[in-house]
Amino acid sequence: MTISSADFEYIRKLMHQHTALVLAEDKAYLVESRLTPLLKEMGVHTLHQLVRRLKTEPFSSIHQQVLEAMVTTETFFFRDSEPFKMLQNFILPDLLQQRRSERRLCLWCAGCSSGQEPYSIVMLIQEHFPELSTWDLTFIASDISGDILARAQAGLYTQHEVSRGLSPALLQKYFQPQGKTWRINHNLRQKIDYRQFNLANAWPTLPTMDIIFMRNVLIYFDVPTKQHILARVRQVLRPDGYLLLGGGETTIHLDTAFKPTQFNKSICYRLRS
Ligand SMILES: C[S@@+](CC[C@H](N)C(=O)[O-])C[C@H]1O[C@@H](n2cnc3c(N)ncnc32)[C@H](O)[C@@H]1O
Repeated sequence: MTISSADFEYIRKLMHQHTALVLAEDKAYLVESRLTPLLKEMGVHTLHQLVRRLKTEPFSSIHQQVLEAMVTTETFFFRDSEPFKMLQNFILPDLLQQRRSERRLCLWCAGCSSGQEPYSIVMLIQEHFPELSTWDLTFIASDISGDILARAQAGLYTQHEVSRGLSPALLQKYFQPQGKTWRINHNLRQKIDYRQFNLANAWPTLPTMDIIFMRNVLIYFDVPTKQHILARVRQVLRPDGYLLLGGGETTIHLDTAFKPTQFNKSICYRLRS
């Protein structure tokens, strides 16, 4: 099913207005492939009819569903592996040392999608930093999409999903088979406080963070939105905290308050003192 350029333009504007996400001009095929499966459920036959409903009805769950379908939620366990080595070998050992008297750590995974990223971090902590079990650990994971957060909270993954990035040993240790799927253990799920909010709008009150994972999210925003979000990251990151971005993302040319810091093959961002 193809979409007219006027309808494509309407969807692009709707997305930008409500999520700040930028859909490139050559991505009409994405709108077609992501919205066509919704048509039956929405009681329409064509993308044009769907757009007409969106245009004529006040903002409602239909618009929300369309936006959620349009968001890219690609993720997998221990994505890119190197950032997790940096976390294990440099960042957490440093923070364990720096916070040894307060024994408190706050982590935030922003744009957590279906949970593979926060659960990878929790498994890494369980495996390599058992002493943190006696610390006051806050772990917030957030996303704009209620559907994807519900999946993250359920912690239920297909065989295909657990075969992406997860070792057989970790699968056996931290997951229970459930029919053809795998559910992550309850004690890992309950360590994460899931919150739904839009990074481009006002943020809820957050504790000051020691580590912020904001990986493969900024890439979808325009420059002013990236700058706006980084300015707010600055306010919630502790002065000696760490910001981790995706491999294709950087603060360079966006916010000079951040200093790229390399550990082996990975880069994280720290506030200049
Ligand atoms: C490509 S996924 C990245 C998931 C994970 N961080 C990773 O690197 O594997 C991007 C996530 O950001 C979320 N997202 C997109 N726009 C957002 C916004 N404006 N506010 C909050 N989350 C957003 C999407 O719903 C999606 O789950």
